[in-house]
Amino acid sequence: MLITSFYVIIFYLPLLLRLSNCNMLPVILVHGGAGDIMDSRVPAKIAGVKAAVKAGYAAFEKGGTVVDAVEAAVRIMEDDPAFNAGYGSVVNLEGEVEMDASIMIGSNLSAGAVTVVQDIANAISLARLVMEKTPHVLLAAHGAKKFAIDQGIPILPPGSLVTDTALEALENYKKYGTQLTEIAAVKNKGEVGTVGAVAVDAEGHVAAATSTGGITGKMVGRSSDTSVLGSGSYADDQFGAVSTTGHGETIMKFCVAHTIIKAMENGKSADQATIDTINAMTAKLNNTAGAITVSKTGEIGIAFSSKRMAWAYRQGNEVHYGIERGQHEKEPAE
Ligand SMILES: *[C@@H]1O[C@H](CO)[C@@H](O)[C@H](O)[C@H]1NC(C)=O
Ligand SMILES: *[C@@H]1O[C@H](CO)[C@@H](O)[C@H](O)[C@H]1NC(C)=O
Repeated sequence: MLITSFYVIIFYLPLLLRLSNCNMLPVILVHGGAGDIMDSRVPAKIAGVKAAVKAGYAAFEKGGTVVDAVEAAVRIMEDDPAFNAGYGSVVNLEGEVEMDASIMIGSNLSAGAVTVVQDIANAISLARLVMEKTPHVLLAAHGAKKFAIDQGIPILPPGSLVTDTALEALENYKKYGTQLTEIAAVKNKGEVGTVGAVAVDAEGHVAAATSTGGITGKMVGRSSDTSVLGSGSYADDQFGAVSTTGHGETIMKFCVAHTIIKAMENGKSADQATIDTINAMTAKLNNTAGAITVSKTGEIGIAFSSKRMAWAYRQGNEVHYGIERGQHEKEPAE
């Protein structure tokens, strides 16, 4: 009798395990940057975040991990000039692209990041290599480029990542100065669009990835929140994963990503933790930001205090997306 029930349990164990996970669908959630996005840029941003979600989900379907999913999603947006990352990054005062990126795994808090890196297509993949192939977390500038060469990553001819839009934005920045007057904000087409992704798999493992060109007219050598763990990205399987976007110096001072994780540790839902942290940062420091969060149980948090933030996610067979405040569209996945 005892032996029979033993075999019955062994036989049904895989099924029981599957059933216990059956309300836990993997999620890939992305953002395409928070800011005063111009009307004319809205369609490209929405198409881009949807394409990123598709690539992230495809990584899952091919048996990839959460890290594969967030990296794949971010790479799509780095290659798309509609976003301020990779090709299409905004430029510094000397008209050059200098990029930042970070990636983090929730299961063991492994992380990698690069800052002020030039002439590579996908900073997020270099950040992943820093995590996997070095004893360090953050590599900067010429050292990061040297490491890219060592790893066989193609180095692009100088200026390859610079777009006319980014140069035009720099010209406007120089003309209108640091005062973000109405007209400068409207003319600064290239201003916003840091990209990021968070994911959770069916077992509750999470990861986060974020990549950016920074802000137009930044000083040469400026590092942003995107390269800093706890500001731009954070992931911990005990709680969830976060990627942020917006005014970098402000996000860094408020440690936005880790503050959201702490709020979840203190019992808030992913949604409430994200909304409350973005609002608290904006109230205290008078600048705008946005964040996306996924909890270890697949709850979603999306918040921004800027005018717009493109976001999209896939959970099960539905794709959700939006860019305006309060907008939440749904459609079947292709
Ligand atoms: C952390 O977890 C990842 C994913 O499971 C694994 O590939 C990596 O080797 C781990 N790193 C450390 C330092 O344990
Ligand atoms: C907040 O920032 C805006 C410009 O971004 C400025 O006009 C306003 O005076 C600031 N408010 C405070 C309380 O500092």
